[in-house]
Amino acid sequence: MKKLLMCAVTMLLVLCLIAGPASAARAAGSAGGVPPLSAGAVPRLAGEEGDPDEEGDPGAPDDSYDPDESGDPDEPGDTGDPEEPEEPPVPEPEEPYVRVIDPSKPMVALTFDDGPHDTWSNAILDVLEENHALATFFEVGRNVRAHPEPVQRMAELGCEIASHSNAHKDLSKLKKKTLIKDLDTADAAFTDAGVEPPALVRPPYGAVNKNVKSATGRSIVTWTVDTEDWRSRDAQAVIDYVQNYGDLDGEIVLMHSIYESTADAVRVLVPWLQEQGYQLVTVTELLAYYYGELPQPDRFYGYTYFSSHGRTDTPVPLPGETVPGAGVPAEEPAEEETPDTPAALADEPEAPAESESPAEEAPAETDKEWKPVRVPDTVDLAPASIPNPALFMP
Ligand code: NI
Repeated sequence: MKKLLMCAVTMLLVLCLIAGPASAARAAGSAGGVPPLSAGAVPRLAGEEGDPDEEGDPGAPDDSYDPDESGDPDEPGDTGDPEEPEEPPVPEPEEPYVRVIDPSKPMVALTFDDGPHDTWSNAILDVLEENHALATFFEVGRNVRAHPEPVQRMAELGCEIASHSNAHKDLSKLKKKTLIKDLDTADAAFTDAGVEPPALVRPPYGAVNKNVKSATGRSIVTWTVDTEDWRSRDAQAVIDYVQNYGDLDGEIVLMHSIYESTADAVRVLVPWLQEQGYQLVTVTELLAYYYGELPQPDRFYGYTYFSSHGRTDTPVPLPGETVPGAGVPAEEPAEEETPDTPAALADEPEAPAESESPAEEAPAETDKEWKPVRVPDTVDLAPASIPNPALFMP
């Protein structure tokens, strides 16, 4: 009996097991399109059905079924449609770069002498352009005549173009007339190249005397940090010197745009300086934003000036700018600085010229005092600066 009972029970169990899937299959069949809702079935069905293919979006099979097979009104997912047109407009993050200088933050002015050089000036400009940085180029007039293209590009990028005399002579050895003629000749080269005659002049070798300092109608600027790149011709040496210099806030760094080694160093230093938090500004920007004064004609900005002045509490706006203050607006500066900087410089001399007395004294003294004396004014250079004129001559 027991065996019979066991057999009966086993038979029932087997029947149940067989009937289970069958009923489930029937249930599925009666439900119409429901099966796809089971998670496991969706991927396979997606391949079989034609709908998803039409949408061409195999990545979202779940969503593609709901609207097609079930009642549209039941699916709140459809409400997503109106959002779609709003998202496309997003791809407009490519706004033009707007350069903003914050006078309250660290800034340093990179300067390059002796160019322009077709290859290395452009290599340096490449780096500046890539990093949205500006620098000041003290160019030799006769080199500008020979290679005007880099100068034009400097102007386009918004870099400051300054004069380094016409023939790279020791200006402190020239008579006043010759001195002025040399600078005027250089100015003509800049004009012929299509840029404004510079208001800033850096005398070759940093050599100055009273005439050079205060009788040219220009602003005379030297530097505070001498990389001696012309001496080492070694990119790593220049990089090491700048990176180990210490605080560069408010400094004017001297380099030369006629060496491959310098261009190589710049490729490393520009991004590095920015990573350190320095804003790379032009000399005029540094004077205005850091030292609080626009370059004055017949004034000498040498090592003594920079080492005896600190960051100003009242940054001055550049001509054409509206607000200089601590906040500095973001709108116009970038665009205006580019084309206006050179022009602005040319305009500056007018106002202050009247109040300048040195200009009147210099000419009077010139005849008497003028001697080819190497006035110890060159001592006003940065400590490490003892350039060898012979090595500098183009
Ligand atoms: Ni030079």
